Amino acid sequence: MCGIFAYTGKKNAAEVLLDGLTSLEYRGYDSAGIFIPEAGTVKAVGAVGNLKAKVPQNFKGQSGIAHLRWATHGEPTEINAHPHSDCAGEIWVAHNGIIENYKEIKDKLIKKKHTFVSDTDTEVLAHLIEENLKKENDFEKAVIASLREVRGTYGLAIAYSKEPEKIITGRMGAPVVLGLGENENFIASDPSPILRHTKNVIYLRDGEIAVITPSSHNIYTLDHNRVIGTPETIEWDISQAQKGGYEHFMLKEIMEAPEVLKNTIRGRLIVKDGLAKLGGLESVADKLRDVKRIIIVACGTAYYAGLVGEYMLEEYAGIPVEVEVGSEFRYRKPVIDGDTILLAISQSGETLDTLEAIREGKRKGALALGVVNAIGSTIARETDAGIYNHAGPEIGVASTKAFISQLTALSLITLFLGRQRQMSATMGKRIAEELLLLPEKIEAILGQKEYLQSLAEKYADSRDFLYIGRKYNYPIALEGALKLKEISYIHAEGCGAGEMKHGPLAMIDENFPTMAIALRDSVYEKMLSNMQEIKARKGKIIALATEGSEEVRGVADDVIYVPKTLEMLSPILSAIPLQLFAYYFARQKGLNVDRPRNLAKSVTVE
Ligand code: G6P
Repeated sequence: MCGIFAYTGKKNAAEVLLDGLTSLEYRGYDSAGIFIPEAGTVKAVGAVGNLKAKVPQNFKGQSGIAHLRWATHGEPTEINAHPHSDCAGEIWVAHNGIIENYKEIKDKLIKKKHTFVSDTDTEVLAHLIEENLKKENDFEKAVIASLREVRGTYGLAIAYSKEPEKIITGRMGAPVVLGLGENENFIASDPSPILRHTKNVIYLRDGEIAVITPSSHNIYTLDHNRVIGTPETIEWDISQAQKGGYEHFMLKEIMEAPEVLKNTIRGRLIVKDGLAKLGGLESVADKLRDVKRIIIVACGTAYYAGLVGEYMLEEYAGIPVEVEVGSEFRYRKPVIDGDTILLAISQSGETLDTLEAIREGKRKGALALGVVNAIGSTIARETDAGIYNHAGPEIGVASTKAFISQLTALSLITLFLGRQRQMSATMGKRIAEELLLLPEKIEAILGQKEYLQSLAEKYADSRDFLYIGRKYNYPIALEGALKLKEISYIHAEGCGAGEMKHGPLAMIDENFPTMAIALRDSVYEKMLSNMQEIKARKGKIIALATEGSEEVRGVADDVIYVPKTLEMLSPILSAIPLQLFAYYFARQKGLNVDRPRNLAKSVTVE
């Protein structure tokens, strides 16, 4: 095991490297270390968090290497933590693998007056490069000469303080992938730490070395012959990704919500003017001013995000909106003209029904926009404009963090279109300010996960569940029910609380519990009445309520509290406890929550 990660570019290398190590964390947690030529070395025993805590604020530079250790040679101490250096402290090596002939090389180097500080095989390589540098007078040649001398396995990241922009890697039996960015390049054990920077990668082959600078990447054989690597675009393969210390991707992805929200809004709000700055819509901004109608097309969870989008856009941008599942839209005869926007929402950007709906709309003259997470995906490419979610790869089949990001992105689009129309700057500013407060409020909800787990355990024997909500939280009731059924395989039904009396109420008895989203908003009183209707039929109720709403306790059997926010943004908060509840419910049943039976992530069939 062990993980290596290296960066050279224009960004703050410490930030890039520490972030990257976090996504590699599953590879080792005995120790972690980082070397930045302009700043120095920091190492810590234990997981990445310990290293992060030790790296000082002013630890700055634009390139560096980092490592996570899963101990082989030598105890997991700070001395043995990578990167390791030569005598002069100029050449630093992060290594995944084992140098088998390290003992004989070490003996030879000791005779040449090299001093070793650690018990590791890796340190030998740093000294060997130092020794060869004396002869070769060239960093690259010294690395190649050294790698020709060693036996064993390696995936390497090597830095030299006299050539800080340059990082060298070599691969023999341990994975190495190069990430090719714009004026920045990366080296890593697997694509996960690179993904947030670039999807263009080259997988190195055994016996190859690569030299990267911010603007170049050159690959050689150990005979120093040039190799032309083949860049590939990363297609996410579930088996390649990591759980980052969580038992399941789904839980990890739910817990990522605050970060995901920040990433979705980053650089997109001008708070003082109450504006959304969406680069992806700039090219069509004038057309958007004249749009008369929006049709949102999506599938599954993304469809429910679309339903929330409808309420947001109609209330704050004053544009008529319809929402339709892709599979229906494409087979009927929708009325579309040049004043219509077709807005696709898709995490994967590959869902065939959504894609075909977009194609159909474009044929009929609509302007096609996308809210897509997977960069470079088909829907992203085929839409005229749009915004990316920047939610990072979502691996769990049941969508969680992408949903939070989709709701956030829709609120940004509402702000953008609303401010082109009647929305006041004051209202725009309120929305923008409130968006910025959401990550902290989500943290407060995530902090209740043990409580949600206990609730899930309490209700785990239920064979049915009703989810009810009104207005903005009606789609969240639908989504909450979908989450539960897709991973728990129990019957869960979502409905608008006002519709209950037209059917679903007939099912309610003491064995048929209800999750009621009863936030203190414009439909609060109505929700309380609907809950009374359930209570009167002996139905058990879990209520999702706004912090401080004590009267809910009088009706509900159990209450989950969420912080207050703008009504339009409240689905972003209310969705999260429902995701956690579904997760713990399924886990209680011992089911594979990440891979629910019969379902898949990127649905490219009809
Ligand atoms: C599948 C997934 C859902 C997802 C839906 C749409 O059914 O299991 O979680 O919401 O596809 O996927 P998309 O990638 O288009 O958002």
